[in-house]
Order: sequence, then C-alpha cells, then structure tokens
Amino acid sequence: MDGQIVFDDPENLSFRVDRRAYTDDDVAAQEITKIFDRCWLYVGHESEVPELGSYVSRDVGGRPVVMARGSDGVIRVLANSCPHRGALICSQSTGQARSFRCPYHDWTFSNQGDLVGVPLPDGYGPGFRKSDFGLARHRSDSYRGFVFATFDPEQPLTLTEHLAGATEYLDLIADQSEVGMEVIQGAQLHGARANWKLMMENSVDIYHFRALHKRYVSYIESLGTMAPRRRGGFARALGRGHGANELVPAAARPLAYWTPMFPPEVRSRMEATAARFVERFGAERAQRITGANRALMIFPNLMIIDAIGITIRKIDPVSAGQMSITSVALAPQDEDPDIRELRKSHYLTFLGPAGFATPDDIEIIESCQRGYLNRTLRHSDLSRGMAKEVPETTDELPAREFWRQWDRLMHDDDREEGHHLTRRAERQGGQRR
Ligand code: FES
Ligand code: FE
Repeated sequence: MDGQIVFDDPENLSFRVDRRAYTDDDVAAQEITKIFDRCWLYVGHESEVPELGSYVSRDVGGRPVVMARGSDGVIRVLANSCPHRGALICSQSTGQARSFRCPYHDWTFSNQGDLVGVPLPDGYGPGFRKSDFGLARHRSDSYRGFVFATFDPEQPLTLTEHLAGATEYLDLIADQSEVGMEVIQGAQLHGARANWKLMMENSVDIYHFRALHKRYVSYIESLGTMAPRRRGGFARALGRGHGANELVPAAARPLAYWTPMFPPEVRSRMEATAARFVERFGAERAQRITGANRALMIFPNLMIIDAIGITIRKIDPVSAGQMSITSVALAPQDEDPDIRELRKSHYLTFLGPAGFATPDDIEIIESCQRGYLNRTLRHSDLSRGMAKEVPETTDELPAREFWRQWDRLMHDDDREEGHHLTRRAERQGGQRR
C-alpha cells in the first residue's frame, strides 16, 4: 500500500486516519485480498438454519456463499458457485432442501456439497470423477451460535483465537437465554453510498447519539422513560481489532429495564426472569447480562448492538464508496410473547433500516463520504479518550483498535509482530489506549 494511512501517536495523544482509506479504489482492492480473503468473517447465526437441510444464501466479504445444515446435522459454509461453469447453485435467500440444483445444466449437489447428479454423464471421459466436482467447502466454525468462515485455508488462527477478548461479550449475549438465542425470522438487506468502515465506526460510536439522533431522544424524553444526560460506562479494546462499549442504560431495554413500559402482570413475569438470572450467574453478572447496553464490534465485518433489543449487522464492502448491510434481530428462544412483540417493535422502529436511528446514521456517513471529496483536509481524527485510563463509552477507543488491526493486516505484519503486539495488549487487560 502506498503511503501511511493510520497515524497512531500515543505520545502526543493523536490518532488520525488518512481519508484515502475511505475513498481510494486501490485501498478497497487491497482490503479484499489482505483482509476479506484472509480473516475470519461473520456468516450468520446457527438458528438461521434450524432444521436438517435449512440454508441461507448471502454474500460474505464479496463472495456468494450458502450456509447450510446438511442432512447429517453439520453446518457448512459452501461456495455458492457451480464447479462446472460458475452459476449460483442457490438463488433463494433462505429455504430447506435436500439438494441444490444448478439451473444452468442441472448438476445437482447434496446439502453437504457433494456432486450427486450430472445429466448425460456419458459425455465425460473415464477420468471424470464426481468427487472432484463438489461445491467448495470453506473453513468454518462457530462460537456460542455465531458462525464464521475464512477463505484462507492457511489462516493460522482458530476462531476462538481470532475472537480474542470479544468472546466475553458474545458470552454476555448468548447467556441471555437458558435455552438458546435465535434470529427472529427475516433479514433486512440494505446499503449505503459510503465506505464500509464508516458503518463499523458509526455502530460503535456513542459520541454521536444525542447529537445525531435528536428526534429519537426527544421522543423518548416525551415518554418520560429516559434518564437525564450523563456520562459513564466504559469502552474497551478487545484485541485483534475488536472493541466494545458498555453502559447501564439511559433508556428502556428488555428484561429488567423495560419494566416502566409494561403493565404490572408482564412486569412481574420479567422480574421473575431477572431473579432466575441472579440465581444462575450471581447479582453482578446477571445485572451485566440483563441490564447493560453494549455495542460489540468484531473485526472486520460484524456489529452486535445489544441495546433496545439485539441487532446483528453484517457489513460488507461493495466498492470504496458503497457497502451492503444485512441486519437481523436476535432474541431468547423462550422469550415471553409480550416482550417479543415489544422487542420487534423496538428493532423496527429504532435500529432497523427504517427506524428512528439508522436513517440518521446512513445519511451522516454518506455525508462524510461526500465531505471527503474536498481533499483539502486529509485526515479524520479518532483521538477522543486517548488521555484516559479508562475510556468512556463516548470515546473512540474501539475505533482505534479496529484501525490498528486494519493497519497491521494491510501491511501484512499481523502474523508476525502484530500478533505479539495484540497479545501484549490483551494481557494488559484490553485497556490499551
Ligand atoms: Fe452449473 Fe453448468 S454451470 S451445471
Ligand atoms: Fe447512530
């Protein structure tokens, strides 16, 4: 990559990013080969393929894939491209099938990826073996129900190693149900005319909340369920480009903190649920699981916003100035039906693409992308909170952690020195500035 992009200067409490990182076609092309072709990438949640033969097809890191639960019960991430001449073997976004038939020449593949049927097979010579023409199976693994894949067979890290400190936060989310979490049926696919990294930064940026989402804030204030403006909570770097922030909520939330909005009989059911969490996890962890808001950023393409419901965003680059976003809601499988309704309503009215918040976010990151056209100002500043021992939720520590990993990967030094650097940061409690 030509020239320095990330200017990380802890001595002077300065952290700047060259805006070519968001606009340059060459940077975008290199991100594909150095990040998306190598890293562990989020694909989906196990609950999206609950039955034998269930599948979802989607693009991950620009590549069409199918996440399928085979008839043997194993979840695989298969290339959605026919080994014959390349057509998509699955054109439905979701469904259930024992096999996938390529529409071009009718080659048929089992839901485990094996080629099982070829029309007019006598057209091929004696050396033709079906076993040579199965769908490519990408290396995949899951953590607490979250399925990831890597397109790099040589990727040295296991998924758990890649997730580093982010496992603590995935646990806080997965532990919200005794029987398991599930994606609420239906994904929302949308996009933005902005660089994909702007959405990653935005999703973990609490600094903008009261400024950009004024309409929502004044609406919630009018309901009387929002606490007065306050600071606090904390931001964390979790290693390997992941970050999070966490806050005892100012607004309402499932379980304990939605109580003011419920009639008394629902409230008492919620309190009973909260009491069970205290029994299982102890008061402190139960409070953290059921009562804190958090945003979790998993490098490079996953955001989980666990506030007013749980939103999972898979973010993918399309080009330097365009991204695609897949957005779903996650919930406890055994959720009280009244709470589920409220959760769905909050998802749709706040974090969904047509909610109170997301259109503001899309509009502002598209505005940033347009602002970069004025090349007089070369850098964006992400230094907020660098002077603090424990950065707050409104600080930009998670974004800095993202950019440090981005910089290591773009310079190919993650596997050597960067590896050790990140390890050291983790040992220091993930509080690296
Ligand atoms: Fe799939 Fe020919 S391209 S069968
Ligand atoms: Fe926002």
